[in-house]
Amino acid sequence: MSGLDLVIAGGTVVTAADSYAADIGIRDGRIAQIGEGLTGADRIDASGLLVLPGGIDAHVHLDQPTSDGTVMADGFASGTRSAAAGGNTTVLPFALQIKGQSLRACVEEYHRKAAGNCHTDVSFHLIVTDPTPQVLGQELPALVRDGYTSLKVFMTYDDLVLNDAQLLDVFEVARRERALVMVHAEGHDAIKHLTRRLEDQGRTAPYYHGQAHAQIAEREATHRAISHAQLIDVPIVIVHVSGRDPMEQIQWARARGLKVHAETCPQYIALTAEDLRGLNMDFEGAKYVCSPPPRDADSEAAIWQGLRDGTFDLFSSDHCPFRIEGPGSKDNPRARTSFKWVPNGIPGVETRLPILFSEGVSKGRISLQRFVALTSTNPARLYGLYPQKGSIAIGADADLTLWDPTVTRPICQASLNHGCDYTPYEGMEITGWPVRTLLRGRTIARDGAPTGQPQGGHLARAISETFENG
Ligand code: URP
Ligand code: ZN
Ligand code: ZN
Ligand code: ZN
Repeated sequence: MSGLDLVIAGGTVVTAADSYAADIGIRDGRIAQIGEGLTGADRIDASGLLVLPGGIDAHVHLDQPTSDGTVMADGFASGTRSAAAGGNTTVLPFALQIKGQSLRACVEEYHRKAAGNCHTDVSFHLIVTDPTPQVLGQELPALVRDGYTSLKVFMTYDDLVLNDAQLLDVFEVARRERALVMVHAEGHDAIKHLTRRLEDQGRTAPYYHGQAHAQIAEREATHRAISHAQLIDVPIVIVHVSGRDPMEQIQWARARGLKVHAETCPQYIALTAEDLRGLNMDFEGAKYVCSPPPRDADSEAAIWQGLRDGTFDLFSSDHCPFRIEGPGSKDNPRARTSFKWVPNGIPGVETRLPILFSEGVSKGRISLQRFVALTSTNPARLYGLYPQKGSIAIGADADLTLWDPTVTRPICQASLNHGCDYTPYEGMEITGWPVRTLLRGRTIARDGAPTGQPQGGHLARAISETFENG
């Protein structure tokens, strides 16, 4: 009689604005009713559980080729299974343009990789590495109109880096087309200089990756990106911000009214540069090599302050998994000769939400509302998925994560679903775990295990809200 397919009953509904006891009624994959005493064809008892909008991980690398033959440990099947088990219902992976490649052909290639394999919904950010007149004049504008409304640019990595002139050109097109640019802000020449110096001194262990990717180089590039964005008058997102110094540049920009958004990641609250030492400076440290690298206790404290005070809009994983052993892994002959050959990136799509919940909410550093804002609502708003995604409201997709805030157990590689052969967070005690993930009303994971066949699709996205407000 109510016509509801499913009722999530007796839980505490949490949004970015409030928490309240209510049942959620689902019809045809959408939230149809929120209230008390709802009945439907099926029922899930959520008593004692939090009912959260499904996690949206806005920074995930899946099935990207590398220039050195290293193989990414997750494709769309294992990567999205892992995401679902970790409480996510949408992930935003990248379609990486190879130099010389048409951007459109690149996007089509990633659609082929993803088709039929996705356990969560997905939507691609573009990565522009070759901003030719054809790409900037025709392909990028057409793709933005087709719903690829965000793109990433790199200020470092030999095969990805754009120079300042190219950055300005991309920003100009982004302003005109209202595409949101994500910036990997690290100064390429400074990193190369430091790398050479360390190598000359015989300092080649993975540990020195952290010194070569100095926070000063990140700060400089962050300011340079901000200056370019100010010149062009375009909003940007500084992604994977690692510490206090780049944060100060972002705060400097915000104080001047510039639309500079910021993202940070689990590695900057749960790891430090010390982890890169491994066991006595050995290759074990390669497990923690990512860029920017984890910093120190002072930066960690700054990141927490930024998560609280709104300096950060986004908390994403930057999931970029490479195995630590075997063919195509981080451990290859060249990587043993210098940290500069160790593939950059660590896994984290499955552990992102538990780490922020446990270290943030359970330890009283951030509120539940802030947790939801950082991990679901803000990514939906900033990347053009709201209100279909990112909240619990009538008419929204019934993307929900049931969360038990009382369970304590350690992160353990053996219980993760990613394709990687290690987790950098092994043994970390976590209080608060997802117990069930629903995508458009259908269960896609239970108790840390993905369920059923891939049901996710690709989402065309709207223009970011940042272009609408002011
Ligand atoms: O080390 C990292 N983060 N690798 C992934 C690529 C990127 O820069 O986001
Ligand atoms: Zn990056
Ligand atoms: Zn990344
Ligand atoms: Zn273990």
